[in-house]
Amino acid sequence: MQSTYRFYITTPIYYVNDKPHIGHAYTTILADVLARFHRALGEEVFFLTGLDEHGQKVKQAAEKRGLSPQAHCDDLAPRFLDLWQKLEIRHDDFLRTTQPRHVQVVQKAIQKIYESGDLYSSEYEGWYSVAEERFITDKEKESGQFRDIKRLKERNWFFRMGTYQKRLGEYLENHPEFVQPSFRRNEILGFLRQPLGDLCISRPKSRMDWGIELPFDRDYVTYVWVDALLNYLTGPGYGSDERNFSKWWPASLHLIGKDILTTHAVYWPTLLFSLGLPLPKVIFAHGWWLTGETKMSKSLGNVVNPLDLIDRYGVDAVRYYLMREMVLGQDANFTLESFIKRYNSDLANDFGNLLNRLSGLIIRDFGGRIPAGEVFSSDAQKIQSEAERLVSKVHDWIDQLQVHKAIEEIIIFVRRVNKYIESNAPWKLAKTDPAQASGILYTAAEGLRMSAVLLSAVMPSRCQTVLEILGAVGSQAEWGQLKSGTSLKPHAPLFPRIEE
Ligand code: MSP
Repeated sequence: MQSTYRFYITTPIYYVNDKPHIGHAYTTILADVLARFHRALGEEVFFLTGLDEHGQKVKQAAEKRGLSPQAHCDDLAPRFLDLWQKLEIRHDDFLRTTQPRHVQVVQKAIQKIYESGDLYSSEYEGWYSVAEERFITDKEKESGQFRDIKRLKERNWFFRMGTYQKRLGEYLENHPEFVQPSFRRNEILGFLRQPLGDLCISRPKSRMDWGIELPFDRDYVTYVWVDALLNYLTGPGYGSDERNFSKWWPASLHLIGKDILTTHAVYWPTLLFSLGLPLPKVIFAHGWWLTGETKMSKSLGNVVNPLDLIDRYGVDAVRYYLMREMVLGQDANFTLESFIKRYNSDLANDFGNLLNRLSGLIIRDFGGRIPAGEVFSSDAQKIQSEAERLVSKVHDWIDQLQVHKAIEEIIIFVRRVNKYIESNAPWKLAKTDPAQASGILYTAAEGLRMSAVLLSAVMPSRCQTVLEILGAVGSQAEWGQLKSGTSLKPHAPLFPRIEE
């Protein structure tokens, strides 16, 4: 993915059937981390997230609680917002599909597709999966993977998705970056080798009325997936704020989970073709957080909920773990053991320890003021050039959406600075050669500052603390911004070791 000056990033909008869980939190943190990296590069960023409030699942969840669907959504929406606040998510927009601005966009877009001749009404009989909220093929029924199946015959509105099959195939061939990772792109190319059918885009109100009414047929509401996908247009102001819309569309990156790939990489682009709009630049499907073989969700049984770790170990440690541990695109296993191991090694022993050691030495030998950085050995110059290389490596990894790699590089550098202190032993030189000792401590502290700036996207508040301690809030990832003479602020250990 190429950096551009504008970066429009989205998460899926989450079903409001229950409280938010790790799956929701993960994608939102990932989007936040990427958004922060791009902001730090000086780009203008628009980060959209939100809630998918229509459809059968939400309606059923509301019924179970004896609430109207709207009251149910109004009750749960703040829980998502509270969690985003707790997780330090800095989104620019929070969209709910029941908001009038979104209802208008859906109706406008559907009307446009209707007028272009891409919709037709037809009677259809087939197997319907209530759980999936869609008609399934005979083959899918036989696979035994679908629950709640019933025979259904009804008149509906259909989108001529099949007519865009060739165009989508060609687009995927010509834009290898469009669907990532590449094995997901291959899945979609494989999917397109079968004839692409048309898409049922309505639900009769007589059966399911919790949705957005079709503007040209009041007996129907819009199929929840069509409604939901259009949120990506509502955010920047499709049909209402053309200037803002053309500023942001096409989106730079739709982040999704692997289970919603077909809707994003097939339904969505064909709908956009019909609307005459360019396609998003990249759709990236990540894997799942698993415990053992099972996908983590709200029903975790006796397994530790990663979100509960926030209260014990702080939000930054949890963000760090989730970002460092998952190789983007693959599944990852969550265990408390791996959390503690990662925390103790990277955060307590490497990053936290670098701060503690440095401030200890600076307080003991230099009255708590950052010493002068004037005399540098060749070792110090090496650290500087490694730091400068680190910045470009981190940017490259972020461009390639390899967040865990970017983090790994930073921690390797932190370790390197720790080793540099050890092997240069400034505590031995403080009396005999204070200029050398100063240069060593300045270099190490500057390495710490650079690391904190680069890790800020992942751990915003603890990195801010480090920068406050160093008197370097607002500094950039450029060597030499640390000011000698600054008094260090007193502090507690940044990441106290977890003793089990
Ligand atoms: N409402 C639709 C998305 C519409 S976007 C136009 C939806 N919502 S969802 O709430 O069910 O799921 C949202 C996301 O959470 C999906 O991307 C899914 O992959 C992700 N996750 C749910 N459980 C997960 C894990 N255990 N691990 C990682 N992400 C998983 O689908």
